[in-house]
Parts: sequence; structure tokens; C-alpha cells
Amino acid sequence: MSFHSWDLDDLLTRAIGWVRAGAELIGSLSRDALRVEHKGTRNDLVTQVDREVEALIRSRIGDETGWPVVGEEFDNPDDTTGPCWYLDPIDGTMNFVQTGRDYAISLALYDGEEPVLAVVLDVVRDECYTAIAGRGAHCNGERLASVDPDRGLADGIVLTDLKEILALPRLTAAIAESRGHRRYGSAALECVEVAAGRAGAFVHLWVSPWDIAAARLICTECGVRFTRLDATTLRIGEPGSVLVAPPRTHQELVSALLR
Ligand code: 2AM
Ligand code: CA
Repeated sequence: MSFHSWDLDDLLTRAIGWVRAGAELIGSLSRDALRVEHKGTRNDLVTQVDREVEALIRSRIGDETGWPVVGEEFDNPDDTTGPCWYLDPIDGTMNFVQTGRDYAISLALYDGEEPVLAVVLDVVRDECYTAIAGRGAHCNGERLASVDPDRGLADGIVLTDLKEILALPRLTAAIAESRGHRRYGSAALECVEVAAGRAGAFVHLWVSPWDIAAARLICTECGVRFTRLDATTLRIGEPGSVLVAPPRTHQELVSALLR
């Protein structure tokens, strides 16, 4: 099935529907029945809900588009050179388990390396962030304004984790110049905080493709720079670092971290 014969508004409507079906599934399951497993390290969690939501959305995508899906909890396709979905059924699983808030379902369509459309649903707040490449980003249907490109490090909060602060000693000095730091524990939602102008930057040393595939398009559609920590371009299939900020803050952070 050729990607270009699709109406992007129709595809986005479908994608929002699949993501909302995933959120309904989460809402229908009792938290008392949550089965939590460790994947590798003790803080890398997965539950049966992650797997059930991914299975549901994969099945809808398969039925309606037939295109491959790269997702967190299942085996992934070898060929991602054409139309390909990137799915995180729960981004922020630790939050889902520990606090019951600040987690998202993240779904994006790429055409090879090119982002096409994106959905990030903050499940508990019921805030649905969407974007179509070249046509801006929205939250619950309301257009998101572009960020101020001249907003500097001194004007914003830096979203980052203790791991990054420990690994990047120069980040401490950069944070000291900023409005301070926060951590919400969902890479997708933290990127969206920058897109929406509530945060000045997001710095993360290790994200997987499904964590940021959708949030990346929402950010770039708002004028936010979205690169690796050394300011190079992401290849979507490869895990690695991200530096997400309006242009001036981005430049200031690159100078501060790499000088
Ligand atoms: P997750 O909840 O889907 O695992 C928390 O630090 C953020 O980083 C979340 O977005 C989380 O996604 C992601 N994350 C946590 N552990 C990770 C790991 N081992 N590899 C890649 N990303 C991870
Ligand atoms: Ca996940």
C-alpha cells in the first residue's frame, strides 16, 4: 500500500483513535491487578498493560494500514525504509506503576527518516498533542504557538535527570544559569513541555526510537530544535542522546556542554 495515496488528516484521525482506544484499555483495567516485571535493570519496568496496549494498537495498525510497527515491547521489523509506525504503549512506565500519572501513549508515522505525523496522549490529563509535518502542532485541536527562537537558557527550566547531571559535569553549571531543573519521567511528555513553551530544554542521554519519534515532530513543528547532544541529526531507528530546546537555548547548551 503506497503511503502517498493516503489522506494525512484521515490517517491522523485513525492514529488518534487507536491511541485513545489504548487509553480506554488502561482505564478499564484495575490497578490492583498490575503485574510488574523488570526488563534488565531494577528500574526498567514493564507491566502486562504495556503489552496489552501495544498489542491492541499494533492490531489496529495492521488491519488498517498493514505497515510495520517498531514498538517497545514486541519484536520489530528489519525493514523500516518505507512507511513505518513507532509506538510506545506507555512512556513513563515507572510513573504508571509508582504515581499513576505523567505517562503517555506515543505513536508516530515515518516515511523512512522523514516524520509524517505524530500523536502523544497524556493519558491522565487527557491532553492529546498531534502534528502533521509542515502543518504545525496542536493540543486537543488547539494550535500550539511557535516557541520564541530567542528564548535563552536563563529564561527556562531544564528538564533532565540525575543520570545526566552526574554524567555531564558541565550541565550543572548550565542548570545554575537557568530557571532550575525538573524531571517528570516521561521523555515524550518532557519534549512536549518544551514544544508548549512550559520548559526551556530537555536533555537526555539515552532515549529509544519509540520514546521520542512522535514528540520530535511536535517539537520541530513548534520551532524547537531536536538533535543529539552534540547538535547532530537523529537517525530515528538508533537509540542515543537528545538535546531539545528553542534555537538560542539549544546553541547555549551546546556551547556550555561541548566547549
Ligand atoms: P519508558 O517508560 O517507556 O521505559 C525515563 O527516564 C524516560 O526514559 C522514559 O521516557 C522511559 O521510557 C525512558 N527510559 C527508561 N529506561 C530506559 C532505558 N533503559 N532505555 C531507554 N529509555 C528508557
Ligand atoms: Ca514504554
